[in-house]
This record gives sequence, C-alpha cells and structure tokens, in this order.
Amino acid sequence: MEPKTSLLDLFPDVQDIPATVRLSSPVHQRHILINGELLPWGGSVQAVYSPIYIRDSSGELKPAVIGSYPLGGEDEAKLALQAAVTAFDAGKGEWPSMSVQERIKRIWVLIQHMIRRKEDIVKLIVWEIGKTVQDADTEFERTIGYILESIKALKKLTNESSQFIVQQNFIGQVKKVPHGVVLCMGPFNYPLNETFTTLIPALLMGNTVLFKPPKQGTLLFEPILEGFAEAFPKGVVNTVYGRGRDIVPTLMQSGDVDVLALIGSSKVANSLKKMHPKSNRLKSILGLDAKNAAIICADADIALAVKECVAGALTYNGQRCTALKLLFVHSSLVQNFNERLVEEVDKLVVGMPWESGVTITPLAEPDKPAYLVNCIQDALVHGATILNNGHDSQTTTGSLVKPTVLFPVNEQMIVYREEQFGPIIPIVPFDNPQVAIDYITQSPYGQQVSLFSSDPTTLSLIIDRLTGQVGRININAQCQRSPDSFPFSGRKDSAEGTLSVVDALTAFSVDSVVAMKHTTHNEQLLEAILEQGMSSRLSNRVLF
Ligand code: G3H
Repeated sequence: MEPKTSLLDLFPDVQDIPATVRLSSPVHQRHILINGELLPWGGSVQAVYSPIYIRDSSGELKPAVIGSYPLGGEDEAKLALQAAVTAFDAGKGEWPSMSVQERIKRIWVLIQHMIRRKEDIVKLIVWEIGKTVQDADTEFERTIGYILESIKALKKLTNESSQFIVQQNFIGQVKKVPHGVVLCMGPFNYPLNETFTTLIPALLMGNTVLFKPPKQGTLLFEPILEGFAEAFPKGVVNTVYGRGRDIVPTLMQSGDVDVLALIGSSKVANSLKKMHPKSNRLKSILGLDAKNAAIICADADIALAVKECVAGALTYNGQRCTALKLLFVHSSLVQNFNERLVEEVDKLVVGMPWESGVTITPLAEPDKPAYLVNCIQDALVHGATILNNGHDSQTTTGSLVKPTVLFPVNEQMIVYREEQFGPIIPIVPFDNPQVAIDYITQSPYGQQVSLFSSDPTTLSLIIDRLTGQVGRININAQCQRSPDSFPFSGRKDSAEGTLSVVDALTAFSVDSVVAMKHTTHNEQLLEAILEQGMSSRLSNRVLF
C-alpha cells in the first residue's frame, strides 16, 4: 500500500520530538583524555550533524546539529601514543603488572559510571547514528552484559592458569599476559558495543589503549570519558580524535602499536598494517567486510525464511556487518517467497528512531542514500525490477531510503558484488544450489551464510561445501553475531582473529611460560616465591 505521507513529511518539526529523547543541549566536547587527564581543547573542532533532519520554525529541513568534538592532529596523537607506551612500560607499568582482581575492580568503576550515564549515552547513539531507541538501549545493555561476562571468563581463565604443570622433569606455569599498546577503532553501526568488545578485553588483559572513536558515533563516548579517567591509572586509556587519514598513519608508522583492533573495511586494514615498520610484531584483530548470503532451498519453510530474511536484511536498515546482503532463492518457490517477503517489507514502518514500531530510520552515512540509489538504478538497467510498493514516488529524501526488494538480480549488478550496507534486498533465483555455493566460494568475503531447508541431506551437503568458506553457518535462521559467547570470526577478507567473550581475552594476550627443572632446589625456590607472594606473575592466587 502506498504510504500516506511522503518521506519528507516523516522528518519532525522541533516540537514533535518527544521530551524523552531530546538532547538537553548540544554536546560540545572540549577535552581530550590523555595520560589520565581530561585536557582542555582549544583547537579546531568537527561539527556533528545528526542523520535526523529537523524542520525549523521557517519550515526549512536541515540535519540537526548535535554538538562538536576536538579535531586533533598528529601532535595530540603522538602525546596519546607516548602516554600509552609509558603506561605499559614494557610490561612493568602499574596496569600490566596489577593483579587481575584489582584490574577487575577498576573495570567495575567504569561499569558503574556508564550505568549512571546510560540515558545520555543511549540518546547520543540515537541522534548520532539514527538507531531506534529500543535498539540503542539494547546496544547499551548488551555491552554491559558483555563486560560482565568477560569478567567472569577472566576469573575462570586466571584460576585455571594458576595451576602448575609437572611434566617430563619440568615444572611450568602458563599465564596470559598483555601484548602492549592496542589501537582500538570501532565501527559506526555498533559504536559502543563493537568498540567495547575489543577495548574491554584489551584492558582486562592489562594492555594500554589508544582509542579512536568512529567518525559517526564519537559524541556518545563523551559521557564515558570521565569514567575512563576515574577508573584507570594514567595513560591506560587515551583518546585519539581527528581525521583517521591524518593521525592513524603517524601511530602505525611509529612501530609502537602492538595490536591493531579494527572493525572496519579490509581496504583500511590492509593499508594500516602495511604502515607498521615491523609487521611481524603487529598483531591484528579485525572485523571487516561481509556480503552474507541466504540460500533458500526448494524444501524451505517459506514463512520462516521470509521472517528471518526480512529481519536479517533490514534490521537497523541493513547496516550490520552480519546483515543478509544477497538472497538466493530456488526457482520453484521464488514467486511465492517474493510475494510473502514483499507483504512483510510493505508492513515496515519508515520513520524517526523514537517512533513506536519503526524499522527503517535515517541512514548514518551522509553519502549512503546516493550510493544506494545508484545501486538500485544500476540493477534496473541490468534487468531487475523493484518488487515492493512505494517506489513510484521517491525512493530517498535526505537520509531516509525506502526498503527496496530487487528481483531478479544477476552478476552484472553492483548489488550482486558489493556490500550495500543499507535497506536493499537483492534476490537471485537459482535451479541448482551449486550456483550459490560457487558464489560464496568465489566471493572475497567469508563471514557467515544462512541456509533454509527442511531436508537433512540438502543441509548436510551445503554445510560441508561451505564450512571452508565462512566462519558461521546458520540453519533456518538469519546471520548474526550473538550469542556473544559464540566465536565471531570470518574467512578471507571478512576477519582476522576470533572474538567472543572468551576468545577476545586470548586475542589480546600472549602466553607467558615460567619453567624450571624439577629439582628439590627449584621446588624450594618456587615455594618461597609463592608463600610470600613475592611475584605478581609467578603466583597461584585464585579469584572468587
Ligand atoms: O555489525 C556487526 C555486528 O557485530 C553484528 O552483530 O549480528 O548481533 O547484530 P549482530
């Protein structure tokens, strides 16, 4: 059914914005956190425009200005790096040598601070990246849950590694110790959650951190900065603000970054890794591009497949690395599938993030609407049609883009190859599942796949063909990262390393072995060290 309002009418007048989501005032951040101090900032600033357009009293529609943040340069980046290097002090610094119990206490200080500032953080997620209020709230809660689970996992890891191994005339103890300085850069789509899925394990394991917030999704960290300053010794968390291309090369070229933790594009990751003068020393933990496909087989439960594919492709406007970005549907059911999919897509509410039941909201990246329109036009030129309603008027206005179901999609189209990261559902019909298997095998990406079938033989065949291609195979379900206890990885250009509550602790640490020949003399030495608690590393203390 044609929506009653045009996209333009969906943007609010100032007075239409509910008090519960209004920002009390724009957030003009004028400090940077370096070496434990919130230093005043008097240099250039970057204005922050919300993807949410607002109509002013004269009727003019403009992106809301929600604040500004420091636009640091090389000098501040170098100061931050120096602070992180000094705080680590080749592993002898206060933080890396602090007991795990004490580190956990400090993380608790941060958690409590974040909980006190939850309302501001959630509102800023909504205004900066257009996420629905409910999803922003979920992102906050999921992040707190992730931190709590990480603490639990660290206690378990610490207790397991407090044991001594007696083997082949040796006594040894293996513990996880920090790497050094970690450069953490998160993505705009889960600015808090995905950033913290690297930053928190990095800190828990005793690393010091340079933290560069995403370009869209910077201000939401302003309420957290005081928490960092309060919780950690100086130099443990340092912020780096500014244009990535101006400051990140300086950090990487210094050779002082030990771990690159980036959730972003493979292009950026490749170029940053090459800048490090000793690439063998650099450890990388990367979550990168993905073009996850769904394969809907002839014997699939259509209702279930439709429900999962709509959620998988359009939750948060398709701006998830795990989103379903291409659907392969068996020809025998494609017409039925398309009709039911369109029926569901047509029910989705397009609007502002605070509106009840809304799914499609303003897109965070300013250039994205034009890119998506180009993708749609390119698909139409190459033989696709738009199946869902509402496109006979405009497809986009400002930052809003209507969900668009494209069929039939073929290899000539941009949407067949590129990660659209937006509300487009491209559908490719197939007669033989080998077409989809070949696509995934030849794809440069390898994050996840969704298989829809009710036949164990079909499922087994495709699972076995795709195990070597992707990090996770979802059966009769959309692609997703959760639960956070599952390994989140990817193959080819989609990831390097594995993140999960437990795996992240391993990723941000390195094995340290203390070993001795099993002699009476060494036993006595060991007992003396342990009994008197003389070493923080060689200790068998357990945590409760
Ligand atoms: O953008 C990538 C996120 O890690 C996806 O997480 O699948 O739970 O939405 P999710």
